[in-house]
Amino acid sequence: MVTLWCVLTLLALLSPEAFGTNAGVKVKVTQKGLEYGRQIGIAALQEKFKTIKIPDLSGSESVSPIGKVSYSLTGIQILNLGLPESKLGLVPGTGVSLSIANAFINLHGNWRVKYLRIIKDSGSFDLAVSGLTISTTIAVKSDDTGRPAVSGVNCAATVGQARVKFHGGASWLYNLFSDYIDKALRSALQKQICPLVSDAINEMNPRLKTLNVLAQVDKYAEIEYSMVESPAVSNSSIDLSLKGEFYNIGQHKEPPFSPSPFSLPPQDSNMLYIGLSAFTPNSAGFVYNSAGALSLYITDDMIPPSSPIRLNTRTFGAFIPQIAKLYPGLMMKLLVKTAKEPTIIFKPNYVTLQVNSTVTAYAIQPNTTLSPLFILNVDASVSAKIYVTGIKVAGALTLNQIDMTLGTSYVGPFQVKSLDNIFLMVLKVAVIPKVNARLQQGYPLPAIGKMNLVNTQLQILKDYMLIGTDVQFT
Ligand SMILES: *[C@@H]1O[C@H](CO)[C@@H](O)[C@H](O)[C@H]1NC(C)=O
Ligand SMILES: *[C@@H]1O[C@H](CO)[C@@H](O)[C@H](O)[C@H]1NC(C)=O
Ligand SMILES: *[C@@H]1O[C@H](CO)[C@@H](O)[C@H](O)[C@H]1NC(C)=O
Repeated sequence: MVTLWCVLTLLALLSPEAFGTNAGVKVKVTQKGLEYGRQIGIAALQEKFKTIKIPDLSGSESVSPIGKVSYSLTGIQILNLGLPESKLGLVPGTGVSLSIANAFINLHGNWRVKYLRIIKDSGSFDLAVSGLTISTTIAVKSDDTGRPAVSGVNCAATVGQARVKFHGGASWLYNLFSDYIDKALRSALQKQICPLVSDAINEMNPRLKTLNVLAQVDKYAEIEYSMVESPAVSNSSIDLSLKGEFYNIGQHKEPPFSPSPFSLPPQDSNMLYIGLSAFTPNSAGFVYNSAGALSLYITDDMIPPSSPIRLNTRTFGAFIPQIAKLYPGLMMKLLVKTAKEPTIIFKPNYVTLQVNSTVTAYAIQPNTTLSPLFILNVDASVSAKIYVTGIKVAGALTLNQIDMTLGTSYVGPFQVKSLDNIFLMVLKVAVIPKVNARLQQGYPLPAIGKMNLVNTQLQILKDYMLIGTDVQFT
């Protein structure tokens, strides 16, 4: 019994639910992306270092042959600093390493000494610190909301040379003091660097927290972009696995299908690659279909006036004589409704949608009652063009062909085939433009902060589409 229980527990642990789900969306940050990150990071660090405060130093030293010398160094300020050399590298399994070399800081301050009880002297000094090196590792993880989070580990900072130049005062004094001052200032400086580096790393987290883990799409749907596992850091990229799933707003019901595993190709000419698997649009289809949002009444006013085909019993009576006989001189109305969620298929350079729907035709009685005439099963094959607009992905559909079979007839038997052209026309002029108007508004991509996409390309590959892009933060 215990053994069985153990086995079951083990199986439960190994099941996909417990082990994390497959990603619907994958994001790859390349070396080029990291390079952009380095530039932003170094600029932030430079600002951070400007806040370095060297406290006033004072004390006394016994200096032979004059005896006790009291001194103070005050008003020390940073005049200039630079981080001319820095490198960001990937640390597989952990995150990234940041190394800074040949950094420099120039400081200015005042000195004051008192010795032999009555002699006072004062002046100013300049301190040039150079050859500063900093190295740290930034661990990249997932926080408990599925957003990326970073933390600094293993920071080390060393100050290379420090050169003090005194202004005013007696030169013999400088020599006595320069060593001491040098050491004291260096250590005051060195102590502050790693905590500031750590602060700067932690300050990236509020930015990373702006990842739209749950992005509202419209009144029906929201899309979840939380990470389903910790970021994977390899020697060439950081790879994030995101859920990429549409949900009904509020009630998160899983669709009867799940993402198939996929992996991004080793492309690296852009900063960022976003792979959206067919699962993501298919989960959208599931949500909209379940919400009843994929249905539309078509009335005659939606057919261009120039069309000889009208939605009335006269036009349809030409193909199905019973209609003209039973319902003479009436206008008609069609209800187009998906029978199940549409299925999107990504093939290299090609996107198709299989939409299985029903069309119910009604005659509109003078008292506005709808009399059903027939129900057709309409399986439509649709091709899609997908593009990126802003930080959204949008699309446009073209109807290729339809395959119709009779569901129910309320007017006796008739040849369904004879209606092919009418329905193809009606769907093309009345349904597709409505759907395209919605698709054109787009759906949010995963994004952080105020991010713009530039040099964006979209490729359709087997089972997913790949967006390669550079980013700019404003
Ligand atoms: C990067 O990792 C891959 C796979 O682990 C390995 O084959 C390759 O040699 C590594 N490249 C470098 C430059 O370390
Ligand atoms: C949808 O239509 C296609 C093409 O006619 C067909 O192969 C498929 O079985 C249909 N699916 C359902 C669930 O009816
Ligand atoms: C509307 O007219 C039809 C046909 O004349 C009739 O069968 C139906 O009962 C009427 N409905 C109402 C609500 O009056």
